[in-house]
Amino acid sequence: MTDNASLLETAKQVAYPNYRPAPFVLTRGRGCRVEDVEGRSFLDLSGGIAVLSVGHCHPELAEAIAEQAARLMHVSNLFYNDRAIELAAEITKRTPFDRVYFANSGAEANEALLKLARHHHYGLGDAVRVELVGTLKSFHGRTLGALSLTGQPKYHKGMEPLLGGVKLVPYGDLDAMREVVGDKTAAVLVEPLQAEGGLVVPPEGYLEGLRELTRERGALLLFDEVQTGYGRTGTFLAQEQYGVVPDACSLAKGIGGGFPLAAMAVTEKLAGALPPGTHASTFGGNALACAAGLAVLRIFDQEGLVERAASTGEHLRVELEKLAAKHECVVDARGRGLLRGLALADDVDAMATLHALRDKGLLLTLAGGFVLRISPPLNVTPEELDEGLAIVDALLADPPRKDA
Ligand SMILES: Cc1ncc(COP(=O)(O)O)c(C=O)c1O
Repeated sequence: MTDNASLLETAKQVAYPNYRPAPFVLTRGRGCRVEDVEGRSFLDLSGGIAVLSVGHCHPELAEAIAEQAARLMHVSNLFYNDRAIELAAEITKRTPFDRVYFANSGAEANEALLKLARHHHYGLGDAVRVELVGTLKSFHGRTLGALSLTGQPKYHKGMEPLLGGVKLVPYGDLDAMREVVGDKTAAVLVEPLQAEGGLVVPPEGYLEGLRELTRERGALLLFDEVQTGYGRTGTFLAQEQYGVVPDACSLAKGIGGGFPLAAMAVTEKLAGALPPGTHASTFGGNALACAAGLAVLRIFDQEGLVERAASTGEHLRVELEKLAAKHECVVDARGRGLLRGLALADDVDAMATLHALRDKGLLLTLAGGFVLRISPPLNVTPEELDEGLAIVDALLADPPRKDA
């Protein structure tokens, strides 16, 4: 059963149908290329939705995983393992944070942040500070807590009741935050660039203002760097570009280079917020995942991937701006580093555009339903980007329209 048709037929019968995958089956990858079971090759500039920080199947990452798998995979958190300690140390060296808790997905890391915030105030004897403030159009994951802070009603539909004590206000609006952040607020959670919301860069002074406001009103400031972190926006963490240090932040996606791994990184003042027994994960921080995380950071250093994300990201910015100027169907070019995209005009059928690109051998994703998002491996070359953008350029001359 190695042809697309028979695998798709089986999938139709046995795979849970909560996704709408492309009509072919991928089986191998290297760098920015993937291949389906019939040998058809695609240029993958989606990076597995910003996950493949070091590219598909980087040999050093594959070797590190194989070596660790043969030595020690899992011991439970009743024991330390050497890899988790080493990776936590590496993350604290590269960020302003002092303590690291490992999880398995972005949503889980955000759940940890929310529990950390409530329990921090509870531990200080302030049982009233339970409210969590987030932003509209945000995305924090699909578990019920993370979903409650996700400001997209379409994902809430049919899932209510959601977590209580949550307030959502427009992103970028400091006055709206000033109105809701008060003596009942446990924390404010924001993305330093709204990714799934449509690659929305915060207005000048917003993150700095949130830092000041939360400090002044006794609430924690939490950043979701699940998509923006790990070099994606041209600095190791996006927050560095604003000089703002939140009290804690979540990391996922690029941290394992494709291996499921996530983290909550916190400043020392929160080290006691979740004492033993208050939060845990069976798989979180297992040796195999952390060995992958360590290999990713070694590759970052060897290949200078944060710096490359910044310089290749600048090339991408210039080229996307050219496309935005050339095609009337593009509203603007947006994003940071290697998390960028083209916002398509209202009358363009963005999903059909994405599918047409796929038919021409280019894999991208949509952000916010209307932004063609490019989030390639951080070691993508300018030539690979140009190859993909030439396909985009040709298609945007006559893109599929909604009323066609
Ligand atoms: C900013 C942000 N937070 C959280 C998540 C959820 O991560 P996961 O799907 O690993 O749970 C995502 C996923 O796209 C994300 O972009």
